[in-house]
Amino acid sequence: MIYAVAIYGSPRRGGNSDLLLDSFVKGLEKANAKVDRIYASEANVAPCDSKRECESSGLCCIKDDMQKIYKQFLEADLIVLSTPIYFYAMTAQAKTVIDRCQSVWSQKYLLKKETRLNKAKEKWGFLLCTAGAKGGQKLFDGAILTMKFFLDAYGAVYKGEIGVRGVDKKGEIADKFPEAIQQAYEKGIELVEGMENL
Ligand SMILES: Cc1cc2nc3c(=O)[nH]c(=O)nc-3n(C[C@H](O)[C@H](O)[C@H](O)COP(=O)(O)O)c2cc1C
Repeated sequence: MIYAVAIYGSPRRGGNSDLLLDSFVKGLEKANAKVDRIYASEANVAPCDSKRECESSGLCCIKDDMQKIYKQFLEADLIVLSTPIYFYAMTAQAKTVIDRCQSVWSQKYLLKKETRLNKAKEKWGFLLCTAGAKGGQKLFDGAILTMKFFLDAYGAVYKGEIGVRGVDKKGEIADKFPEAIQQAYEKGIELVEGMENL
């Protein structure tokens, strides 16, 4: 069974990026994946304080909800993150979780340890973004780059993103872009099936 971890990056419950991820998760579950949901804004996760202990131990010295989340990330076959765009980047809540993965980066690049510990043949990641602006060529670039480097720490392959522009009011994506919600659902199914067929 494929194991997926879904990170909700928005502090607005039931907002546009939540709806997109809910639909993606429905697709994952339709394809019989086991899914754990993490609500970044509700998790007790402190920002990295740059103590740098992880550089020699590979372990984070801050003891909070990340201790459970590290295990989930390490074991996940698929990691999906949803986030609204805030000033051309992902939210602080999502970034806080990602910054704490510096300890995993240290394991991989400083201590030369294997960090891809999931059971499937590969480990994959996917990104879902929503933004108010209709234009902006580079609107999603900041979030994409952060996601790619986050996944790299876990030896995961970036499988792409769905970025939806022009949604600002809470939940308006459902009426304005039902096709994006459907696309997220189908992508969830596609990734589970693709991973099973590796
Ligand atoms: C603090 C803040 C910063 C934002 N910055 C941007 C931005 O740089 N570009 C943009 O297109 N939309 C921006 N927005 C709008 C959100 O990206 C948009 O409303 C999004 O759909 C919200 O998703 P949510 O409902 O999942 O929270 C910003 C919103 C907030 C609250």
